[in-house]
Amino acid sequence: MIARTTARIRGWGRDLMDWMEERTGIVSLTEKLLYEPTPARGRWLYTLGSATLFLITLQFLTGILLLFYYVPTTDNAWDSIHYIMTQAYFGRLIRGMHFWSANLLLFVIGLHMVRTFLSGSYKAPREMNWVVGVFLILIVTIMAFSGYALRWDQEGFWAWEVGAMISSYTPLIGSWVITTLLGGDTAGPATLSRVFALHVWLLPAVLAPLIGVHLYLLRKHGEFGATFEYSERLAALRKRRQMEETFGSVEEDGQVADAGDHSQEG
Ligand code: HEM
Repeated sequence: MIARTTARIRGWGRDLMDWMEERTGIVSLTEKLLYEPTPARGRWLYTLGSATLFLITLQFLTGILLLFYYVPTTDNAWDSIHYIMTQAYFGRLIRGMHFWSANLLLFVIGLHMVRTFLSGSYKAPREMNWVVGVFLILIVTIMAFSGYALRWDQEGFWAWEVGAMISSYTPLIGSWVITTLLGGDTAGPATLSRVFALHVWLLPAVLAPLIGVHLYLLRKHGEFGATFEYSERLAALRKRRQMEETFGSVEEDGQVADAGDHSQEG
């Protein structure tokens, strides 16, 4: 009985997917977007990038929900967080998710970076993906740091102040950096506005397209060491060699370069 019901529900699901596929092509598009072959060895380590992506998405979603109640002024910031934790519906859960997922994100992004380093994924032709990754980890770190300051309690306040002081030692632009981060000579109401603008607007606005570039480059080159990459490239190379032997030089796209000349000669 249960088996028959399950089979029937599965059948409806399949019919619905077929119906959607015929009209929108959404099923094949999703498959194309989601499936990326990975090397058979150490395959679980290749989930760390997707885990990072999942945690960042969670940060965006829970962050937007927190914005419904958070007030970015020195008088009200801490109180608004207290309100979220004690009065707002699911406030404690959503803030808890935002906080713990931020911590986990830093850990997972670090592991992802170590994995890509150890598997040599920074080598040609993936150097740009590594460079983009370095910017991503920098932005994620500054986001975590600025989020900490948004509480505007003693810990958050002093962490930002000390961080700003350290960055004042940057050669040449040190004094500009500290004024920008504090919004003046010392920490005050303008500092919180700056931190808020950074955490909620500027950094996410840079982060989101950079993640897009990162994923585009990943799809362009495939996972380093995935068997399909070598077998496909090898097959293309063999075909090219064969054509070169038969026709002379061959263009990048596999077209015969000097076909016209041959016909004239003939
Ligand atoms: C917002 C942060 C990041 C996100 C969302 C992200 C996402 C991803 C995803 C989904 C993949 C494919 C799955 C995998 O290989 O695990 C990937 C691959 C890759 N990532 Fe990241 N990543 C991030 C940060 C970084 C960092 C910090 C680095 C290094 C500095 C990095 C370097 C790479 C490289 C080189 C690849 C290609 C891997 C290969 O071909 O073996 N990524 N990333």
